[in-house]
Amino acid sequence: MQISPSILSADFANLQTELDTIATADWAHVDVMDAHFVPNLTLGLPVVESLLRVSPVPIDCHLMIEDPDRWAPPYAEAGAQSVTFHVEAAADPARLAREIRAQGARASMALKPGTPFAPYEELLPELDMVLVMTVEPGFGGQAFMADQMPKVAQVREAVRRHGGEVWIQVDGGVSARTIEQCAEAGADVFVAGSAVYGAEDAAAAIGELRELAGR
Ligand code: DX5
Ligand code: ZN
Repeated sequence: MQISPSILSADFANLQTELDTIATADWAHVDVMDAHFVPNLTLGLPVVESLLRVSPVPIDCHLMIEDPDRWAPPYAEAGAQSVTFHVEAAADPARLAREIRAQGARASMALKPGTPFAPYEELLPELDMVLVMTVEPGFGGQAFMADQMPKVAQVREAVRRHGGEVWIQVDGGVSARTIEQCAEAGADVFVAGSAVYGAEDAAAAIGELRELAGR
């Protein structure tokens, strides 16, 4: 069970300090948005390069961008330890995943709430993680979509069938109230933005989430 706090809910003027506050987490989740794939704009490669230099934990890049075939591999090349692209935006997801892996990063495919998993099951051998979105991508602090749990279970079942070690990440509205149902459905990597950065004690919030997920 791994916790990946999203810095989307952090103070963007103090990112180094904000990364230090989540030093007990397994990953730092960095949301890259291009104002095209999603109706919001955050940060890009130069900022991720700087974060990689100071982060106490590996960086889990969630790319909510158009044309990931072109723009995702540079994040892996820069040293991001995990790179997630949205399959809805990818022209050749299998090739893209292989390229990300060739740069030494973990390759991960994200599915928006309306995107089914079944058409992409054959990609599993190319992947290290599948991200099942539990909100519409674009903003932090939205309500958790419990109706995505069957999809998590479906991915878990497919991973079991295929063998191999593919992690399943959930992202959006994950909190102390919702994390247990995610773990029950089969998720093992949990992104939490507002639940960690909105807490008075981020380390305590991370510890609580990890404990609830592991029950
Ligand atoms: C939403 C982002 C999430 C977001 C989660 O598009 O991908 O990573 O930061 O924030 P919370 O945990 O507040 O829903
Ligand atoms: Zn995210």
